[in-house]
Amino acid sequence: MTIQDQARPALPHWEEPPADHPAAIREIKRALRARIEASGRTVEEVFAVVEDRIRERIEGIRADRAAGRDVWPVVDYADIEAGTVSPELVEKIKSRGCAVIRGHFSREQAVQWDQDIVDYVDSNRFFENYTGPGDDFFSTVGSKPEIYPIYWSSAQMEARTHPRMAAVQGFMNSMWTHESEGRSWFDPNRDSLYPDRIRRRPPGATSGGLGTHLDPGTLDLWMTEGYQNHFRHLFDGNVEAYDPWDAAYRTEANQYPGSTMCSAFRTFQGWTALSDMAHDQGVLHTVPIPEAMAYLMLRPLLSDVPEDEMCGVAQNKTFPVNERWHPLLTEAISTIPDVGAGDSVWWHCDMIHGVAPVEDQQGWGNVMYIPAAPWCTKNEEYADHVRKAFRGGESPSDFPEEHYEANWPNRYTEAELNEIGRRGMGLID
Ligand SMILES: [Fe+2]
Repeated sequence: MTIQDQARPALPHWEEPPADHPAAIREIKRALRARIEASGRTVEEVFAVVEDRIRERIEGIRADRAAGRDVWPVVDYADIEAGTVSPELVEKIKSRGCAVIRGHFSREQAVQWDQDIVDYVDSNRFFENYTGPGDDFFSTVGSKPEIYPIYWSSAQMEARTHPRMAAVQGFMNSMWTHESEGRSWFDPNRDSLYPDRIRRRPPGATSGGLGTHLDPGTLDLWMTEGYQNHFRHLFDGNVEAYDPWDAAYRTEANQYPGSTMCSAFRTFQGWTALSDMAHDQGVLHTVPIPEAMAYLMLRPLLSDVPEDEMCGVAQNKTFPVNERWHPLLTEAISTIPDVGAGDSVWWHCDMIHGVAPVEDQQGWGNVMYIPAAPWCTKNEEYADHVRKAFRGGESPSDFPEEHYEANWPNRYTEAELNEIGRRGMGLID
């Protein structure tokens, strides 16, 4: 049942960004409060339920830390392939919303891919031609980037279409309920190969990191009908029914346009390590509590937040998570354990994450960004753009238009695609 069908005050919605943001924020806040209060509880009362649930999760995280156990669940790839991951470990992944897959690929394979990427960019004189980040006109021409806007190397395509990648994506997708409300929302066993970039951060690097934030959207999370339907239980005041693993309506929700938007539905964000990385060398951290999304969605409705503000969330800016508005959540920040070349790292698409700063990094920090973006109407639409970009060696439409690879002769070709690749590109069913 969608949010507009229910016997409660309807919500206004803006399928395009509203012209007057402060006015729209005031209007949606009023409507959300009225709808929540129609449940018989105040916003403060339902928020207190969410806080209690999160405090419980934080206790569990503290207990693991105190006992020297990994906060991040760690799964051996061999157990995924054999179907022998224990129910306890599956429960832990659902409760933490993230996982490290050990031995997802062999070390030799990962190191070979890393070298293949170096050969690919060197053979095409990438560093000589690099003109700086796609969104910054004033960068120095020729400076070496850490994020390579490269999408179509053999290494990336081999990893995206590898049977081991499909096995892990299928396993991670199984954390989600993909059929609910009498509908099927996505196919957990077919991925749409969402093409993303590469990061290669050299030894000795100093980096300021990336503050804790959220990726799935900004004001659209409250203001569009698709997201209102997805978060219907939060907006009904029935927070106990909110399940971060229920995909209902999610594949019908769209982000407002912006320079960091994602047009695809990703069950998990992820990357595959192409080098060893120690946990204290500027790596990924998360708030490993999927239900924290409930806190983020309801927090702006409390009375200490200015009436025309959403705790700093603004269109076309990263969704910030910070001490000022979310002190309870930042207590839970947890870094990934040490990872080795060939391991992969996954986190729920609505989970708070960031990258720690590092000075004089020890060793390389190399990853291929490969998420899980299962086949659904939304991802099928984006696959049309992906196919076109793949054939032309262009940057995919979610990314700055840099198109470095357009004339590179040794990029991956359509003839090389295996069945996983052809299905993922929408070339066969
Ligand atoms: Fe992010």
